Amino acid sequence: MEINELIINKTAKVGVIGIGYVGLPLIIRIAECGFHVTGIDFDKEKTEKIKAGKSYIEYIDDSRIKTLVQQKKLAVQEDYNHLYEFDVIIICVPTPITNNKQPDLNYVDMAVNGIAEHLRKNQVIILESTTFPGTVEEYILPLLESKGLHVGKDFFLGFSPERVDPGNHKYDVGNTPKIVSGMTEACLGHIFSFYRQFIKQLIKVSSPKTAEMAKILENTFRYVNIALANQFAILCNRMGINVWEVIDAASTKPFGFMGFYPGPGVGGHCIPVDPLYLIWKANEFDYMMTLVQLSDDINSNMPHIIVQRVADILNMKGKAISKSKVLLLGMSYKKDIGDLRESPSLKIMDLLLKKKCEVLYNDPYIDSVEVESNKYYSRELDKELLNGYDCVVILTDHSIYDYEWIVENCSTLFDTRNILKELKKINKNDDGIFVL
Ligand SMILES: NC(=O)c1ccc[n+]([C@@H]2O[C@H](COP(=O)([O-])OP(=O)(O)OC[C@H]3O[C@@H](n4cnc5c(N)ncnc54)[C@H](O)[C@@H]3O)[C@@H](O)[C@H]2O)c1
Repeated sequence: MEINELIINKTAKVGVIGIGYVGLPLIIRIAECGFHVTGIDFDKEKTEKIKAGKSYIEYIDDSRIKTLVQQKKLAVQEDYNHLYEFDVIIICVPTPITNNKQPDLNYVDMAVNGIAEHLRKNQVIILESTTFPGTVEEYILPLLESKGLHVGKDFFLGFSPERVDPGNHKYDVGNTPKIVSGMTEACLGHIFSFYRQFIKQLIKVSSPKTAEMAKILENTFRYVNIALANQFAILCNRMGINVWEVIDAASTKPFGFMGFYPGPGVGGHCIPVDPLYLIWKANEFDYMMTLVQLSDDINSNMPHIIVQRVADILNMKGKAISKSKVLLLGMSYKKDIGDLRESPSLKIMDLLLKKKCEVLYNDPYIDSVEVESNKYYSRELDKELLNGYDCVVILTDHSIYDYEWIVENCSTLFDTRNILKELKKINKNDDGIFVL
């Protein structure tokens, strides 16, 4: 049967390499729409959980996985031995940066080499991992064609960036518009046809390079605007102006303004990483993305700004930071999830420890963290703990926290997220509350 027919009647077998934050919601969506899907991941902990019908992402219910596994719509594998069986293969592996901020394509490399080894006629290969423009055309295509098959004729290749926003209950895989691209018209046709089976709105672009650049633009746009908000926060603090009130006021303009907010730094696998892929690629064209580089400098410096503010706050209370106890609330990079990747909270903890103060943390989603090879465990929050600390710092504004209770039970609180604004009534005077 032709590949297009297999796609349209949903008998195409789908393999998704990498079933993390992007891959897991994707395989669930594809399977729930009627395809038979296999998630391929080297991480045995994840594959074992799926086999047992369990989720490892907070906002995905076990029941959805369990049902699909029981219906035999969803399976998992831990190696590439059966890649030739899949009609459609989607790559959702990490694309991190190295210690010196260079793209690390090791995971993509592994996946593509695995596919190349088993490549057969009529397979559709789609990259969803975020990467620099040119990855599919200049890097993946030559690897796949080195086996003697030709793109657009024997196999089909393209890029479709993932836009999943972990924890977002309004937009999921099915109702988030998705960009699709292909190396040739035939590639684009098959890829469009595939995603159309389970995604409401698709946007075709002319090449994988365009799609790769569009994804990088989306994330760089956020990164640059967050940097601007962070600079406003620093200046406002010096001028005695509340930056949050400023942004809220500016946001009342119904056109031409979009509110971005400051914070303790930028975390996650995407926003602080993807702009660096762009900086790296631009160098090849003798072009420095100076605005993006500057934004990276500003955002990367925020943990230092936070630690300085903690020291200033303690100083105002007549305490030296080296003799103080600081309790951090929220270690994940974003509220209501347990993702520590690139989290600025880790950097802040490290910097505080280097200032010789005693540091503990609480995060309902993260049992332990490692800083400079030392392991720290999340401490249960109680009145005694809160009272016993010289400064409590809200780094991540998890919804589960009872902020009113926290305010009542600590002497000094530094809120880097402006979450306390949401409290209708704070039963104490504001002397002990500081906002970024
Ligand atoms: N997390 C997000 O919100 C998000 C949003 C949009 C795009 N992205 C992009 O999607 C990609 C994946 O991100 P993620 O957050 O899902 O990462 P993740 O770390 O949560 O998951 C990746 C999974 O891939 C597995 N893996 C790594 N290399 C493998 C290989 N060669 N073969 C098989 N399995 C392999 C890992 O074990 C892991 O389970 C990245 O490029 C990221 O930039 C992420």
